[in-house]
Parts: sequence; C-alpha cells; structure tokens
Amino acid sequence: MDDASRDWQGYYKAVEGRPPRHTLLWALEALEIEGLARGVAIDLGAGAGRDTLELLRRGWSVLAIDGAASGLRRLEQLASPTEGKLTTRHIAFEEVVHLPSADLVNASFSLPFCQPEAFPRLWKLIRLSLRPGGRFAGQLLGKRDDWASDPGISAFSETEVRSLLEGYQLERVEEEKHAGTTAKGKSKFWHLYHIVLKREPT
Ligand SMILES: C[S@@+](CC[C@H](N)C(=O)[O-])C[C@H]1O[C@@H](n2cnc3c(N)ncnc32)[C@H](O)[C@@H]1O
Repeated sequence: MDDASRDWQGYYKAVEGRPPRHTLLWALEALEIEGLARGVAIDLGAGAGRDTLELLRRGWSVLAIDGAASGLRRLEQLASPTEGKLTTRHIAFEEVVHLPSADLVNASFSLPFCQPEAFPRLWKLIRLSLRPGGRFAGQLLGKRDDWASDPGISAFSETEVRSLLEGYQLERVEEEKHAGTTAKGKSKFWHLYHIVLKREPT
C-alpha cells in the first residue's frame, strides 16, 4: 500500500514474513498473565495473516475476516493444519452485522480502511463480541495522518479517540506522530494510536 489506494496484494507481498504487531503481543501478554494462554480471537482485516499466524501458533482459534480474498487465500496456505483452528470470512467491514463472542478482537492497521459511515457500527460490534475481561488490540488513525483527508478513511481527533475508548479499561494507548514510510517505502506522515483495551469484567 503506497498510499491509501488499497493495493492489498502489493502490501501482502511487502510485509510477508514480518513479525506479529506489538499491539497483539501486548494483549496476549496481558491475557496470559490472567491465565488465558489460548482462546478465541477475531482478526479484523487479517490480511495475509501476520497476526493470525502468531495466534494459531499459540493454539488460538481464530476467525480471520478480510474484504480482500487474496490475503485470506495466502493465509490459508501459510497456516499449518497442526496449529490452532482457523476460520476465514471474506466480507467487507461495512457488511458485517454480527461478530461471535471472543476473548480477543485484533485489528492491526485495518480499521482506518472502514468507511467512516460504517465505523460506529463496527466499533459497537467489536465491544459486543468481547467477553467480559476480553481485549481489543489494534490501531486508530489520527487526524494529522496524511491519509486522514481521504473521504474513505476513518480518522479521529484526540477527543474522538477518547470518546471511542470510554467504557474500556485502557491498558496501552500510545500516540505516534512522525514522518516515515509505508510498507512499500513511500514517504508519508503517520499519526496513529496504538491501543490495547480491556472490556470491563461484569
Ligand atoms: C494495512 S492491511 C493490514 C493487514 C494486517 N492486519 C497487518 O497488520 O499487516 C489492511 C487490511 O484490511 C483489509 N481491509 C481494508 N478495508 C477493508 C474493509 N472495508 N473491509 C474489510 N477488510 C478491509 C485489507 O484487505 C487488508 O488486508
């Protein structure tokens, strides 16, 4: 992905073999400390499986959701049959009306690509799917990001981010603002919130 133009095949190729995202690792560590070493996860915008493969390696059952079939096909090829259980679902975020119950909802660098008008519903579905004590891990895009002006991108002000996080225990919220590059090496200004949230145990 050189810009926000959704060249997903090129993106999958550029990131193949890269390690899992640190937000996923933070959430897994937090769950492990509480005694949950493996459970049920949803990976939203799983792509070719950078995070899903790590979850499977650790014995998790994963529902990998993505709007691009090519990534899910690659993920199915890479997932070993001896690892945790993988289910894939080819569907756009904008079409999702239900998410099953999960211990972890992971969305690495994917929610910004949800159409803004569909984002509130998706964010609500994520919360509904999390069991009490479950974690959300992922990124939200900030308003200063170069991609934020694209009308198809979901990006948020600091106030909006705070409001999205209400009702969760905040385990990690790290704001990142810097000039950098995309996965395919194009210069861009990044403004991200790296987030791990815990659904309040009820
Ligand atoms: C930047 S990639 C991130 C992939 C992976 N999570 C990672 O961390 O490398 C974004 C992923 O979100 C998916 N995606 C983008 N827009 C989507 C949408 N509206 N509905 C479902 N998936 C979408 C893309 O197909 C792509 O696999």
